[in-house]
Amino acid sequence: GLRHFLDLDRMGSQTLRQILDHARQMKARRGGMPRGAVDRDAPLSGDILLMIFQKSSTRTRISFEVAMRQLGGAASDLDGSRLQLGRGESIADTAHVLSAYGDAIVLRTDQHSNLTEMAQHATIPVINALTDHSHPCQLMADMLTIEEAKGPIRGQSVAWLGDGNNVASSLIHAAQRFGFRLRLACPPGHQPNPAVIEAALAEGADVGLCDDPIEAVAGASALYTDTWSSMGQERAPEELAPFEPYRVTSELLAKAAPDAIFMHCLPAHRGEEVTDAVIDGPQSVVWAQAENRLHAQKAILAWCLARG
Ligand code: CP
Ligand code: NVA
Repeated sequence: GLRHFLDLDRMGSQTLRQILDHARQMKARRGGMPRGAVDRDAPLSGDILLMIFQKSSTRTRISFEVAMRQLGGAASDLDGSRLQLGRGESIADTAHVLSAYGDAIVLRTDQHSNLTEMAQHATIPVINALTDHSHPCQLMADMLTIEEAKGPIRGQSVAWLGDGNNVASSLIHAAQRFGFRLRLACPPGHQPNPAVIEAALAEGADVGLCDDPIEAVAGASALYTDTWSSMGQERAPEELAPFEPYRVTSELLAKAAPDAIFMHCLPAHRGEEVTDAVIDGPQSVVWAQAENRLHAQKAILAWCLARG
């Protein structure tokens, strides 16, 4: 079958572990090489990645482009606004056509069903670059980042604070597949997708919801938050009031395990979900997370496009 990368819960733990280990190896091998230099083995020489971003992106879009270059291939950003898709050509027809030109498709879209439809009709691998449901590429970079800072992910304790959004769902999937403890504290009405939690619990994952942010961070070696206003569900200032108790401040960080790391997928709304003192402080690993998008995605691409 085709090696789509759609969601972590649809992948096996062993496969995910292999991808993560490969990412770490490839990162180590690059040493001080210039960013534009091709990896010595150029594993994706001649391959073309077709990227469709129907929402804004800095990290995902650019790290995929650089990833393909380092792997010896190329990426083309198809500019969602200029595709016939924007004038009503179907996702299925677009999938057929793109499959004739490229070797893999990256899609960032609003409705998750757009992604699964693309994967259903494409005859080349499709990669989820974020939907309203999930953001699995982000979590692969984050697993790499946690392991660099804290050692093996299995058995770590992670706390999520704030909006139970797409990144939170992929974090739950990650807890389920990589075997770490996860506590999520979110305001009423903004809790994570219950189906995602139920599925994780049914598989025996150590995932739990708390109302109290202090309870969630107790013993945590990593605190993770994200914007209170995701793309496509922007909130007016007055709608943010329920989120206030979940802001990651120095006081909250001090209630986690000593030397806990602070994580954020970025972009940040500084002063809302996190204070400057935390995101710019010594426990923050946000720039490592952003860099690791590149290394993790190289390993994802190599897995999707491995032939034979
Ligand atoms: N974290 C993340 O996916 O960032 P972008 O929206 O800039 O791609
Ligand atoms: N939850 C955010 C993540 C951005 C990378 C959003 O969907 O906008």
